Amino acid sequence: MNRNILAIETSCDETAVAIIQNGTRVLANEVATQIDVHNEYGGVVPEIASRRHINNIVPVYLASLERSNLTPNELDAVAVTNGPGLIGSLLTGLSFAKALAFGYNLPLIAVNHIIAHLYAAFLENEDIKFPLIALVVSGGHTQLIYLEDHLKGRVLGKTRDDAAGEAFDKIARRLGLGYPGGPEIQRIAKEGSEDTFKFPVAFSNEENLEFSFSGLKSAVINEIHKFEQRNETVPVANIAKAFEQAVVEALVENTVRAVKKFPVENVILAGGVAANLLLRETLQDSLNKQNVRLIYPNIKFCTDNAAMVGAAGYYYLNEGIVSDYSIDAYASNLEGECLINVCKES
Ligand code: KG4
Ligand code: ZN
Repeated sequence: MNRNILAIETSCDETAVAIIQNGTRVLANEVATQIDVHNEYGGVVPEIASRRHINNIVPVYLASLERSNLTPNELDAVAVTNGPGLIGSLLTGLSFAKALAFGYNLPLIAVNHIIAHLYAAFLENEDIKFPLIALVVSGGHTQLIYLEDHLKGRVLGKTRDDAAGEAFDKIARRLGLGYPGGPEIQRIAKEGSEDTFKFPVAFSNEENLEFSFSGLKSAVINEIHKFEQRNETVPVANIAKAFEQAVVEALVENTVRAVKKFPVENVILAGGVAANLLLRETLQDSLNKQNVRLIYPNIKFCTDNAAMVGAAGYYYLNEGIVSDYSIDAYASNLEGECLINVCKES
């Protein structure tokens, strides 16, 4: 029997509604992005984001339903991101999801955004083997997760300060590039020369699986500052290239270390930063050497979307993890919250 899940994602600056069949088949995937509005400010303005979600949610929902060729009666559940993210933005999606679930008498599934990013890998891809390790790298999060089975696992390591995507966004802004910074840095780094700068890679000599990008960020900002003080042109492309390499090195090194410590056959790379081509290629090469398969979602499922929420929601539903109408939104993952709220402890 097919299970059709209507999924909603409004945790940051994308208003997204998707309809996913059996956790893998994408029947509709509509995204209304707000990038243009926030670009003006060099980052997401939470108040504007929530207001835009309110304007966008109904048209995006209707467009998604129309695209799927389904009627609400053919839906089996409503899944929605309830955290972590911007609270006002999350509340828009969550309230809308509650209303739909109530109106159509459907189970309500509150999905963790980081877990949703990870489940993007399962879209249009049923051939994934457990146990696995996932590197989830987005604008708000950088985590290595060990999954024994669906929704059963633990966090192996996360960032102590900035998320990888956040570092991309901040450095891009400092270099006078647009928002979001990741694609801008990737684009301009292609024009840079190798080995003109070498920035520090955090924890590269330590035996742990945590990340840190604030030292790298300061080093890059100091370098830019030196050029500005001397009234010299900042070599934007060269700095962007060395910065991108340092971020990729830190992410790849820790992931390979995790694979050596916790043997798995499959690694998932997900989240907005997983769209980065240097990261994809470097991680692929390193994992090939370990005979480990790298799985990454289609680029359109890397940055925020609701299809990934529908993929995760399917497994929540299978496991009987449903929410009642008292469920709230939350801004950040508390220590271990992912394991308590979302993953069953292993
Ligand atoms: O997953 P996502 O859409 O939102 C969050 O959950 O945070 O990730 C957005 C982040 C932004 O920081 C953006 O700069 C980064 O993903 N990003 C990239 C690339 N495309 C998006 N970072 C590096 N290279 C890219 N090609
Ligand atoms: Zn995200």
